[in-house]
Amino acid sequence: MKIAVIYWSGTGNTAAMAEAIADGAKENGGEVSLFSVNEFSGSIKDYDKVAFGCSAMGDEVLEEAEFEPFFMSIENDISGKKIALFGSYGWGDGQWMRDWEERVNDKNANLYDTGLMINGMPDDDGKEICKEFGKNFAAY
Ligand SMILES: Cc1cc2nc3c(=O)[nH]c(=O)nc-3n(C[C@H](O)[C@H](O)[C@H](O)COP(=O)(O)O)c2cc1C
Repeated sequence: MKIAVIYWSGTGNTAAMAEAIADGAKENGGEVSLFSVNEFSGSIKDYDKVAFGCSAMGDEVLEEAEFEPFFMSIENDISGKKIALFGSYGWGDGQWMRDWEERVNDKNANLYDTGLMINGMPDDDGKEICKEFGKNFAAY
């Protein structure tokens, strides 16, 4: 089972989530590839499952210079695919994630659970939550 974890992170918070999610998915037998969005050059069609991560930016939106154009370019390929969403946030109530979930559901993707949100940098408990999320996504 091939799993890609593709994320954008400004200050490393979502990156730390991505690493823990990738570790968890590996524990459950996934062949996991971890990319920051500017490192990813393949096709998401080559993966059985994809976890996307992006922090809350702008005014409750995905980061607009790199992640949003990337996501827009691949969102027509996620229909029927097992997708997970995650990201770090600051002062908001998670509106960016609810909008992102709706967008993924509108494409008829197979969204795992709800998007995983962590406030700021994940602490040890937060990293454990991310790991479990990755583990369960690999089994999904
Ligand atoms: C330009 C900018 C815009 C932001 N907008 C939001 C926002 O709308 N809602 C929110 O909850 N946090 C917002 N934040 C806070 C970040 O989501 C938060 O610091 C997060 O932990 C950053 O994660 P990262 O290091 O993975 O980018 C914003 C931060 C910056 C720098």
